[in-house]
Amino acid sequence: MAKIAIMGFGTVGSGVYEIMRKNASGISRKASADIDIKYILDIRDFSSHPENQLFTKSFDDILNDSEVEVVVEVMGGLHPAYEFTKAALEAGKSVVTSNKELVATYGSELLKIAEDNNINYMFEASVGGGIPIIRPLHQCLAANEINQIIGILNGTTNYILTQMIRAGKSFEEALADAQAKGYAERNPAADVEGHDACRKIAILSSLASGKHVDYNEILTEGITGITLEDVHYADSLGYVIKLIGFSDIQADGRVFARVCPMLVQKSSPLAGVEDVFNAIMVKGDSIGEVMFYGRGAGKLPTASAVVADVIDCVKHINKSKHIMWTKTAENFMISADDVYVSYFVRATTDKAFVKNQIPEAEFVSCDGNETVFVTPRDKEGSLNGKLAKIGGVLSKIRILEE
Ligand code: HSE
Repeated sequence: MAKIAIMGFGTVGSGVYEIMRKNASGISRKASADIDIKYILDIRDFSSHPENQLFTKSFDDILNDSEVEVVVEVMGGLHPAYEFTKAALEAGKSVVTSNKELVATYGSELLKIAEDNNINYMFEASVGGGIPIIRPLHQCLAANEINQIIGILNGTTNYILTQMIRAGKSFEEALADAQAKGYAERNPAADVEGHDACRKIAILSSLASGKHVDYNEILTEGITGITLEDVHYADSLGYVIKLIGFSDIQADGRVFARVCPMLVQKSSPLAGVEDVFNAIMVKGDSIGEVMFYGRGAGKLPTASAVVADVIDCVKHINKSKHIMWTKTAENFMISADDVYVSYFVRATTDKAFVKNQIPEAEFVSCDGNETVFVTPRDKEGSLNGKLAKIGGVLSKIRILEE
C-alpha cells in the first residue's frame, strides 16, 4: 500500500481526490500497488466533508509521517509551496505538482534535490492541463533533438480570441464573457498579459534544452492590444490571431523563446484550436512535427495528469527518473533583435513614406486613414528601427512561419 498526501484542496486538489476515489481499482492496477490518501492539507475548514478525518492544517503531519511516500502539491503560488516541496523532497518523498510558477522558478533546484535523493519531482499538469506533454518531451521523444516548440498554452486567451474571431466580440466583451463563464479571473492579467503562457513555455524550453530558461528573459506580450480591426484584416489575408508560446532551440543549445499574439495561417493545425483548448506542436530532428491537443485547464483534466504522475512515482519508489535541467550561463538566451520575423502592420502614416522606409512592404489597404501592410522577413531589430521611423503604428503583429 502506497500512502499519499494532497496539499491544497482547491479545484485541482479536489479533482485529484475525486479521481483517486472514482478510479481506485484501475489506478492500483496500473501502479501495481494500492494507493490511498492519508492526508489532505488545507487551512480551511472541511469538518463537514465525508472524509473529514483525512484533513490536517499541519504540514508537519505529512513531513514526519514515514508512511507518506508521495506528496501532491496543488496549492499554487510560490510560498509556502516551495518550502513544503523542498522539505518533502529532502525527507525522501516524491512530489507531484501542477504549480507552473514553482516549476518555472525553482525547477532546476527541486529536480536536483529529487535526483540526489533518488526520488522524483513530477509536473505533467503544470503545462497543458490534462494534455500529455512533459512526459512525451522527456520520455517518448527522448531520441530526438527538439528543435522547436510552438504552443497555444493558455485556454482563457484562446477563448477570448475565438470569441473575437467567431462572434465578432470586442476584446472587452469577450473578456467579460470569459469571466462570466469562470475561465478568466476577476483580475485577468496573468492570462491576458501572457504571463501564464510565459511560465509554461519556460518549462517546456527548459525540459527540451536541458538548461534553465528564466521566464524573466522571455519576451512576453499579451492580447490586450488586439482589436477587431486586426482580426478582420488577418481573416482577409488568410490568418487567425492566436497567442503563441514559441521556443527555438539552436544546435549550440542556446534558446530563443517568446510569447506574443501571432498571425497563424488558417491551414495550420494550430488555427483550428478553438475555445479553451490548448495545443502544442513539437518539432524533433527525427520525428518531424508532432502535435498534442486537448483540455489545457479545468478540474478533472488537470487532476488526471496529476494522478498519472502519482502512479508513475509509486512505480518508481526509490528510483529517480532523471528529469533534469541545469542552471545556465549568461548570454544563453538569443536576443529578439537577431531573430527573423515579418510583421503585419497598421499605421496612420501614408503609403509613400512606408514605401520609402520599407520598399519591399506588401500593401493590403490604404484608405486614407490607415496604411495596412506586411513587412518582408528581416531581423526584428532592423524592422523595429524602420517602424519607429515610420511612426503612427496602431498595431504590429508577428506572422508565424511554420
Ligand atoms: N488560466 C490558465 C488558462 C489555467 O487559462 O489556460 C491553466 O493553467
